[in-house]
Amino acid sequence: MTTSTSGTDETAVASYAPSAEFAAQANAGADLYAAAENDRLGFWAEQARRLHWHTPFTEVLDWSDAPVAKWFADGELNVAYNCVDRHVLDGHGDQVAIHWEGEPGDSRDVTYSDLLADVSQAANTLTELGLASGDRVAIYMPMIPEAIVSMLACARLGLTHSVVFAGFSATALRSRIDDAEAKLVITTDGQWRRGKPAPIKDTVDEAVDGAAGSAFENAAASVEHVLVVKRTDSEVSWTDGRDLWWHETVAKASKTHEAQPFPAEHPLFILYTSGTTGKPKGIIHTSGGYLTQTSYTHHNVFDHKAGKDVYWCTADIGWVTGHSYIVYGPLSNRATQVVYEGTPNSPDEHRHWNVIEKYKVSIYYTSPTLVRTFMKWGKEIPEAHDLSSIRLLGSVGEPINPEAWRWFRDVVGGGTAPIVDTWWQTETGAIMISPLPGVTSTKPGSAMTPLPGICAKIVDDDAKPLGNGGNGYLVLDEPWPAMLRGIWGDMDRYKDTYWSRYAEEGWYFAGDGAKYDEDGALWVLGRVDDVMNVSGHRISTSEVESALVTHHSVAEAAVVGAADDTTGQGIVAFVILRAGEENTGDALIAELKAQVSKEISPIARPREISIVPELPKTRSGKIMRRLLRDVAEGRELGDVSTLVDPKVFEAIKKGR
Ligand code: WTA
Repeated sequence: MTTSTSGTDETAVASYAPSAEFAAQANAGADLYAAAENDRLGFWAEQARRLHWHTPFTEVLDWSDAPVAKWFADGELNVAYNCVDRHVLDGHGDQVAIHWEGEPGDSRDVTYSDLLADVSQAANTLTELGLASGDRVAIYMPMIPEAIVSMLACARLGLTHSVVFAGFSATALRSRIDDAEAKLVITTDGQWRRGKPAPIKDTVDEAVDGAAGSAFENAAASVEHVLVVKRTDSEVSWTDGRDLWWHETVAKASKTHEAQPFPAEHPLFILYTSGTTGKPKGIIHTSGGYLTQTSYTHHNVFDHKAGKDVYWCTADIGWVTGHSYIVYGPLSNRATQVVYEGTPNSPDEHRHWNVIEKYKVSIYYTSPTLVRTFMKWGKEIPEAHDLSSIRLLGSVGEPINPEAWRWFRDVVGGGTAPIVDTWWQTETGAIMISPLPGVTSTKPGSAMTPLPGICAKIVDDDAKPLGNGGNGYLVLDEPWPAMLRGIWGDMDRYKDTYWSRYAEEGWYFAGDGAKYDEDGALWVLGRVDDVMNVSGHRISTSEVESALVTHHSVAEAAVVGAADDTTGQGIVAFVILRAGEENTGDALIAELKAQVSKEISPIARPREISIVPELPKTRSGKIMRRLLRDVAEGRELGDVSTLVDPKVFEAIKKGR
């Protein structure tokens, strides 16, 4: 059903109201907004009571130590018990928790009873290794069930996990291990990449051993053990006493383990994300509030029905979306979900649609970049499949352009499936701004409205709240249960990054630009800081610049995110060589791209590198990234009046 409004502005477009049929069966009705508005903290207390509390809480929010919140602080719970044990105890042990699809075509179903046995075995093994509540564990694994089991085993024991995306380099892994002082790394022998095994254990060795030539040469890591799951049967090197096989330890441990309760504010995980400086921030999340909001949003935003829906979130557990909407949200709601190990074109571009057909996926949550990639591959591909099981679609990670939104709904959603465009961040822990699928009339490209219980504003530089038509900064003006509790080891940076911009008002500064259209729908416009968003991955310009200058030929580098039709933004770098270094053209550019892959990850590899004689700088020596973005996007240059030497651009353009 479509109701139209006229206008030429992209935001004055048709909106899509939920069908009466969908609305009638939806978990969330309009009354949810009213309930939250009436008594916000009472509303959150009610959501928290969807969980099992070993010790019920009496206090909802303690904001006296702002900006560090305490939610449900005197309550005690066990996160893993909530995600696994209670479903088995309720008689759902035989329900499939995970339909796992391996990249090479192997597959495995894991029921909730299986999951309980596996998590118990892993918890017993970690305890035997001497790990105790509060210790940190790094998880560096591909998308296999053992990765989820590892996270849940940590949660069960009160260990704080730090999942590091398995595409990150040894350097990136080591800096995260060091920052959190992890005692254990859980990994695999190798991982499947487009039909071939690729190394992982080697990367862990390189990181933990402080390999020669690395930034950590000879430095001892905090790591006492490396636990290795056999996945590809690859040859690996082995350090006796330190390295342990999963199949010789975990798989032989006792399958019973009693979960102990932990305080609601016990740290559950650290997850590193790019900030505006080169050093990634270890975002800290705790237990009770985080699980409350991930569970609540998964239930209401995805309209999830336990035992009926088959849910698939295509993220990787290395990112927050994987934490909140593969592990904690869905499992707390007793979801049956698909977990897929590989890329969407392995062995061919039909893979996702084959998986949807095979398991009758009903809820499909993915990124705009992937939707645009599917569009590029052609609609004949999804159209060759029966996708009629799909009843709801979700989008996350970056703004979704209206064209991709419509294609998604028409081609994948049969022209009827509601789309929830969900705005949130690693820091927010859970979805904050999104339609409710049975309530909201959605506009393609807009995240629409803050969820019930969430407060957001769009404000200008002077903290003046903007109304319809206003374009400014997105702030969150009340604390929320899943909010970060700080940056690991650096609480000053926490306060400075998020709370100093609107210190007087006490608002959280999200770092995104946003606007309200004339109907009051909220549009997130993208980052307003030096963070790029490439395929939904956050990468800071300074991280890539630091990686480039580690190359012996490079004197200085400037990096910008330029608009990209598929990936949202692409990384474009401008590099000045050291005196006496020869510009070998393509060969050097290839080397520099490889350097970034090696220092950070292939996801940070620049799309384009130009070797230029100079960079545009202001009189105070600041690189004018805005002007470089103009060059990268082929636009007329903006205001150049503050430049030391406006002619520098002639030379830069010649270098491209
Ligand atoms: C962007 C991912 C527009 C935004 C969950 C945010 C979005 C950053 C959306 C967080 C959306 C995420 N529409 N932009 N629906 N969702 N973003 O920490 O810039 O990896 O600040 O968390 O992604 O990225 P992060």
